[in-house]
Amino acid sequence: MSLPFVLLSVFLVLFFFWLFPLFFRGIPWQPTDMRRVRRMLEMSRIRPGEVLYDLGCGDGRILLCAAREYGACAVGVELNPWLFLLAWFRVFLSGFRSRVRVVFGNIFSVDLSRADVITLFLFEHVNEALKEKFLRELRDGTRIVSYVWTFRGWTPKEVDRDLRLFLYVKGESEPKGSGTV
Ligand SMILES: C[S@@+](CC[C@H](N)C(=O)[O-])C[C@H]1O[C@@H](n2cnc3c(N)ncnc32)[C@H](O)[C@@H]1O
Repeated sequence: MSLPFVLLSVFLVLFFFWLFPLFFRGIPWQPTDMRRVRRMLEMSRIRPGEVLYDLGCGDGRILLCAAREYGACAVGVELNPWLFLLAWFRVFLSGFRSRVRVVFGNIFSVDLSRADVITLFLFEHVNEALKEKFLRELRDGTRIVSYVWTFRGWTPKEVDRDLRLFLYVKGESEPKGSGTV
């Protein structure tokens, strides 16, 4: 195999699997710092054995912290194949494989009905698009912690203004009558 062929193949793989999806989703990877990760988990009041979903899990740091420090089970969903592999690898090496799972795919295609806690650091328009899915799939009492972006028209149960974290509770935060759609 010639060098130009190998380089071209690497470029095409990187372009189509890494950069290309970002053009459509428009959400780059920006990891949440660990101080905020811990605060998010504190705000969620996650308990041992509860199930956390991190929507767009990046390198899997929230999943691993939830499992390691809070005894939770965690599922991460990641669309970017390189980040998925990174998260999968970190979980593989972590010793928490029995409690942490990483799914390669779109957050809109994953069933969230088992979630006790949702964490997310996405964009405003993605939070808006997720509302209907949350109303349909989440059980009452499920805690949702969002970094930076709020859910328009929903009332947060707790806000950390300094760290820009917002806690919502399904069944309490949305306006009365939004119900299941
Ligand atoms: C700002 S980063 C946050 C990463 C991680 N949650 C954290 O807090 O460190 C957003 C992540 O969401 C992923 N993402 C964006 N849209 C997605 C989608 N529709 N489905 C799955 N992952 C998505 C991006 O690839 C990126 O890794």
